[in-house]
Amino acid sequence: MRTPIIAGNWKMHKTAAEAVLLAREIREAVINIDKVETVLCPPFTALGAVEGAIADSNIGLGAQNLYWEEQGAYTGEVSPLMLAGLCDYVIIGHSERRQYFGETDETVNKKIKAALAHDLKPIVCVGENLAQNEAGETNSFVGSQIKGAFAGLSADDASKIVVAYEPIWAIGTGRTAEPEGANEIIATSIRGTLTELYSDELAQKIRVQYGGSVKPSNVESFMAQPDIDGALVGGASLKSDSFVALVKGAL
Ligand code: PGA
Repeated sequence: MRTPIIAGNWKMHKTAAEAVLLAREIREAVINIDKVETVLCPPFTALGAVEGAIADSNIGLGAQNLYWEEQGAYTGEVSPLMLAGLCDYVIIGHSERRQYFGETDETVNKKIKAALAHDLKPIVCVGENLAQNEAGETNSFVGSQIKGAFAGLSADDASKIVVAYEPIWAIGTGRTAEPEGANEIIATSIRGTLTELYSDELAQKIRVQYGGSVKPSNVESFMAQPDIDGALVGGASLKSDSFVALVKGAL
C-alpha cells in the first residue's frame, strides 16, 4: 500500500514570517492525521523558519530546487549539503524551472543523483505542454522524461523517488486533466516506463502525485484513481483552509 502524499509548493510566495504563520495553522489542523503524508515546500529563505514551526510534527519539509555540486563558486545556488538535515524532500524539474530556467532531463538527472546522495527524497516533476497534448505526444514525451530522470539510478535509489505528473497546461490555469485520463497517463507512461526500466514491483511501489489546479472541490476525484497517490499543489497550498481540506480529501 502506498501512503498518499500531499505536498504544498509555495513557489515564490511568502516571507519567512508569513510562512511560519501558515505552517503553524497547517500543523494545528493535520497534527492527528497519519494516513496522509503532508509536505510543505516553502522558498529557501523560509526553510529554516518553517522547520522550527513544524518541529516534532508529522509534517515533512521540502525545498523547491537544488544545485548538484556540494559547494563552490556558483553564485545564487543552494547545494544538497546545505539542504541535508534541514529538508526531507526536494522538488526537482518543476515545469517552471524547465521553462524559465533552462532545466533539461540531463540537469534534472544530475540533481536527482545529488539529492539522493544526501538523503533528500526527490519529488520529480514531469508533464507535457498543450501542443504536445494536442498532438497526441503525451505518452511518448512523459515516458522520455521518466527515462531521462531515472537514468543510471539503482532500483534502491529509484524507489525513494516521488513522481509528480503535472500537465503544464493545467498548472495555475484552473484547467485540470480528467482524473481518468491522468490516471491512464500515469499507469502507461510513468509506471509502464518504470516497469520497463526496473520491474513491475518497483513501478507499483513508487508514489505518483497529480499536479495542476488541484483544489478541495476536485481532490477526491483524483485520489479515487488507482494510480494517483496524492497531489503536488501550488495555488491551493497558500491558504491553510484549502490546503488542509486537500489533506483531508486524501484520507
Ligand atoms: P497549481 O500548481 O496547483 O497552482 O496549478 C501546481 C504546481 O505547479 O505544482
